[in-house]
Amino acid sequence: MDVKQRLLYAIFLSSLLLSSMSSLTAQKENYNSTAYLPASWINQASESLMINSTGGNIVIPILLRGSDGPRYVCGFYCNMEGNQCVFGVLISQSRRSNDEYLQSPELVWSANRNNPVHSNATLQLRQDGDLVLANSDGTLIWSSHTRGKLVSGLKLTKMGNLVLFGPKNESIWESFDHPTDSLLLGQKLGPGQKLRASDSATNWSQGRLSLAVGSNGLSAYIESDPPQRYYVSGTNSYPFYEFRNGSLNDLTIPPASGAQFIKFEPDGHLKVYQWRDMRFVEVIDLLDPYVGDCGYPMVCGNYGVCSKGQCGCIETTNDQEKSYFSQINFRQPNLGCSRVTPIFCDDSRDHTLLELTNTSYFAVDSSLDKANMGMEDCKSKCLSNCSCKAALFYYTDQRDSVLESNGNCLLLNEVFSIINNEDNIRPPYNTTVLVKVQDVYVHSSSSSSSSSSSSSSSSSSSSSSSSSSDIKQTILGCTFAVLACVVSLICYCLILLRRILEDSEETEGHFLNQLPGMPTRYSYEKLKSMTEDFSKKLGQGGFGSVYEGVLSDGTKIAVKCLDGSGQVKDSFLAEVQIIGSIHHVNLVKLIGFCFHKLHRLLVYEYMANGSLDKWICGGKNSQSLPWNARRRIITDIAKGLAYLHEDCSHKIIHFDIKPQNILLDQNFNAKVADFGLSKLVEKDQSRVNTRMRGTPGYLAPEWLSSVITEKVDVYSFGIVMLEIICGRKNVDWSKIEEDKHLLSIFKRKAEEERLQDMVDKNNLDMLIHVQEAVEMMEIAAWCLQSDFTKRPSMSLLVKVLDGLVAPETNLDYDFTKPSVVETRAAGHLVIEADNIASQLLPSALSGPR
Ligand SMILES: *[C@@H]1O[C@H](CO)[C@@H](O)[C@H](O)[C@H]1NC(C)=O
Ligand SMILES: *[C@@H]1O[C@H](CO)[C@@H](O)[C@H](O)[C@H]1NC(C)=O
Ligand SMILES: *[C@@H]1O[C@H](CO)[C@@H](O)[C@H](O)[C@H]1NC(C)=O
Ligand SMILES: *[C@@H]1O[C@H](CO)[C@@H](O)[C@H](O)[C@H]1NC(C)=O
Ligand SMILES: *[C@@H]1O[C@H](CO)[C@@H](O)[C@H](O)[C@H]1NC(C)=O
Ligand SMILES: *[C@@H]1O[C@H](CO)[C@@H](O)[C@H](O)[C@H]1NC(C)=O
Ligand SMILES: *[C@@H]1O[C@H](CO)[C@@H](O)[C@H](O)[C@H]1NC(C)=O
Ligand SMILES: *[C@@H]1O[C@H](CO)[C@@H](O)[C@H](O)[C@H]1NC(C)=O
Ligand SMILES: *[C@@H]1O[C@H](CO)[C@@H](O)[C@H](O)[C@H]1NC(C)=O
Ligand SMILES: *[C@@H]1O[C@H](CO)[C@@H](O)[C@H](O)[C@H]1NC(C)=O
Repeated sequence: MDVKQRLLYAIFLSSLLLSSMSSLTAQKENYNSTAYLPASWINQASESLMINSTGGNIVIPILLRGSDGPRYVCGFYCNMEGNQCVFGVLISQSRRSNDEYLQSPELVWSANRNNPVHSNATLQLRQDGDLVLANSDGTLIWSSHTRGKLVSGLKLTKMGNLVLFGPKNESIWESFDHPTDSLLLGQKLGPGQKLRASDSATNWSQGRLSLAVGSNGLSAYIESDPPQRYYVSGTNSYPFYEFRNGSLNDLTIPPASGAQFIKFEPDGHLKVYQWRDMRFVEVIDLLDPYVGDCGYPMVCGNYGVCSKGQCGCIETTNDQEKSYFSQINFRQPNLGCSRVTPIFCDDSRDHTLLELTNTSYFAVDSSLDKANMGMEDCKSKCLSNCSCKAALFYYTDQRDSVLESNGNCLLLNEVFSIINNEDNIRPPYNTTVLVKVQDVYVHSSSSSSSSSSSSSSSSSSSSSSSSSSDIKQTILGCTFAVLACVVSLICYCLILLRRILEDSEETEGHFLNQLPGMPTRYSYEKLKSMTEDFSKKLGQGGFGSVYEGVLSDGTKIAVKCLDGSGQVKDSFLAEVQIIGSIHHVNLVKLIGFCFHKLHRLLVYEYMANGSLDKWICGGKNSQSLPWNARRRIITDIAKGLAYLHEDCSHKIIHFDIKPQNILLDQNFNAKVADFGLSKLVEKDQSRVNTRMRGTPGYLAPEWLSSVITEKVDVYSFGIVMLEIICGRKNVDWSKIEEDKHLLSIFKRKAEEERLQDMVDKNNLDMLIHVQEAVEMMEIAAWCLQSDFTKRPSMSLLVKVLDGLVAPETNLDYDFTKPSVVETRAAGHLVIEADNIASQLLPSALSGPR
């Protein structure tokens, strides 16, 4: 068993240390940057030729160029399963000259992305001048169409351009003329050329988004009939766009300090990536300032409504039973919404238009045909043509609304994401989106509601016919509220929980199961059988034991049984409420729960590699993690916490960040667990009373001062960071007095400027990365500032950890200094801790349990 574990661990280690291994493998071959015809290459992943890339993708190099700085490789690029390969060009960077090192390369051009090849495919540079890619059975996949031309060879230039050149060294064909979704420094995008984004991160086929240069300058749009544009630069003074050091024509780019490329992403963003710290990081999102979070065509999918970056569906709040749209996937609202009833063209009498006021649409200012008419004419124009799925309408001059003329009417044959424009920041103002729906109820229920109300939206009734009064009735009830969707979900959850609590056992269960996206309610018997009568215990936490189990579909689960009453009841509700309604890759997912007599159980996703504490203090257990894994775990925790603090509809403070509450899945992704102690705070709520929460050793000093903010989590996170880097517990009673407390060593070593002494010495890889580890410790020190206002927010930390922002350097290493009470700075959430005095002393003195 021990041997097996060691073996598995060795495999794990080697995959994490892949970077250094791939440098070895690349050294064996001396790649050329030019090949002369005839030549041919086979897509075969022999060990010596393989270089692993990001996400487990594999590169089989053919030509290599660049020894100091940006480096390019052309070759076969295959996904992890090896069933999808393209011939393409990748960009990377060498660390220093003569370094045969190819790490984290990114694909910037490919020949056959819509038509991937498999292993044993061949690339041939034929005698007749053609460059041909064929599958192993001989089927032609791609060709440069240069047959009959005088081609001497194929070269990869130092700009990353793949060129077929002639006897006079002239270019006959080049990859720069056939861009896919990326641009390299020096590359031009001319009239007639476009970048097509990939379908998704995993499917490299071209998707529907395009970026092209035309008479209006640079424009980005989604292919549809007709295309719908979401960005246009509007200047036509450039014959082409060229990616230079520092600019893409009128768009400014940070100067390149190393390899850099522009990528048109599957979501429509146009991002610049820059090599930093051994990988590519995003340095700027070029279209964002113009387009905005909600202005991308597919940000919330078809018929999705985007509100400050959050997605929902079109809601008809006045008439709940008439819901025209439903979410495609409750857990992923950004996939968009689908019609409950499709539009039948042969029954156009039953078509009505939902009138969404205070909304906008990304293509409202686009080149789509605009017609000048009033609102009513616009409506009938859309209703009279079945291929019209929605209309956009606005008056440039509000006075025209009285005359019912001179409005702008745009018809859409396909509806992508709609923008909530309640705060009226997107011109043109007062745009109304009119979405066509199939009304199956109109005739059956018309008598009951025909007289109920008169339309307030009809300022003129000149054109109203009998069918348009039907329309107006439907329109009446239509307002949408995207945020309300989220909030109502939480409320719904709360109400259900209350009903569960009030209900006796016999009504156990069924209604909650019907709510997709919310945790499932299980019966106690079911959980008992799923866990084989609670036989496999995974661990024991502060509030109860955790058992392993299996769902009927084979998914492994962890079942937590809460024991005790009072406090447990609170924490049970808190967990179900909080975790059930939020989803993030770095937060442990709550699958279900059970509430039965005295039993309170929570069902979580199973985390194969247990809690972090088992991994960081395990020097002797030969389980100590390499640097990359530690850095990733730290970043993961930061992302999870940033989400809790800033991205949910409520601000959520965890209050108990410690290694025991960080879990690792089979791929060593870290997820924050145990929200039992967390506190849900309305975003506009400024202070909250709470009793003392958390674990001694991880408590921020401001607990003494009774001013508590989300920065207590930042402090605990700082401690956890230190523990991860140093590979030891915060307090270690086995050490001599002056080394018992990690923070006192930290202070001492910082004064001596010998922080490197603290880095975990049980792991060779940590010693290799000692400089990075010390930099990380300085970030931890920032989190540990005793004045909480000096600590960074979690979202800022995420940026710092991603290398996008420089960390604060003016730090105070006297962490134990009690914090200053008067710092009730504006903008901070303030929580008043009650009963501090009575609770503080014993716990603060007793150290970790
Ligand atoms: C590259 O990845 C493959 C498949 O995941 C693996 O078998 C191989 O050992 C890796 N190679 C290196 C050098 O890490
Ligand atoms: C580089 O070119 C030389 C001469 O053309 C050839 O012998 C060698 O195999 C090439 N190397 C690779 C890795 O293709
Ligand atoms: C590729 O070719 C090798 C021998 O040339 C053969 O052993 C292997 O099975 C082939 N792979 C596939 C997927 O056809
Ligand atoms: C071919 O042209 C490139 C620049 O385009 C130049 O660097 C190289 O030296 C030339 N080679 C020959 C043989 O003329
Ligand atoms: C990849 O995307 C293309 C274009 O959207 C689509 O036609 C194709 O089915 C997708 N392939 C997979 C495997 O999903
Ligand atoms: C880009 O310009 C900056 C100065 O503006 C310079 O330091 C850097 O080396 C340039 N990068 C490249 C790749 O030329
Ligand atoms: C639209 O926004 C205005 C303020 O911009 C507000 O007064 C009005 O109530 C909103 N209408 C709806 C239906 O939300
Ligand atoms: C309906 O709209 C489509 C697409 O916009 C157009 O091609 C067609 O001519 C229109 N039909 C009528 C009857 O106006
Ligand atoms: C938008 O509509 C409101 C009332 O409907 C009006 O007061 C306001 O002036 C309009 N804004 C513009 C820019 O037309
Ligand atoms: C970590 O998880 C993987 C995947 O389930 C497993 O193979 C491995 O044994 C785990 N490691 C340990 C030490 O439990």
